[in-house]
Amino acid sequence: MALLPIIVAPDPRLKIETRPVEAVDDDLRAFLGDMLDTMYAADGIGLAAPQVGDERSVIVVDLTREDEERSPMKMINPEITWYSDDERVHDEGCLSLPEHYAEVVRPDAIRVTYLDETGASCELEADGMLSTCIQHEIDHLHGVLFVDHVSAIKRGMILRKLKKAKKQAAA
Ligand code: NI
Repeated sequence: MALLPIIVAPDPRLKIETRPVEAVDDDLRAFLGDMLDTMYAADGIGLAAPQVGDERSVIVVDLTREDEERSPMKMINPEITWYSDDERVHDEGCLSLPEHYAEVVRPDAIRVTYLDETGASCELEADGMLSTCIQHEIDHLHGVLFVDHVSAIKRGMILRKLKKAKKQAAA
């Protein structure tokens, strides 16, 4: 198990289109374990491969808190096959946009297909917070960040602040 460095926006590696996983093997399972450790260490509830510089189409999600029994989900090649008409608003954050939050409107419920870490085909219906989190993570697999769902003004403000913080950290 290893902690992976998390890429902070703005960064071209967060804007890539990932490629589907062809073989679910030990290498991938080890990577998913590292992603989960990295997410827990950063106190996150979701993480997608591009956030740690990887181009495979995988995400991990766990809505439980540190003091609860953990309930990790590892999704390989996740695809949303259905969205509800009902919407939900959530004040979203992201480990790649630290300390910034914005209200994002998304469909409340989804149906998602994916492979689990044994390579089995799975289907899940989710709503509420779990649905929001899965949609946010799947967005990452297509180069989309939560700020891409808000106004250009708000997006520009957040990205400028992150850029400035990076420059200061590098100086
Ligand atoms: Ni994120």
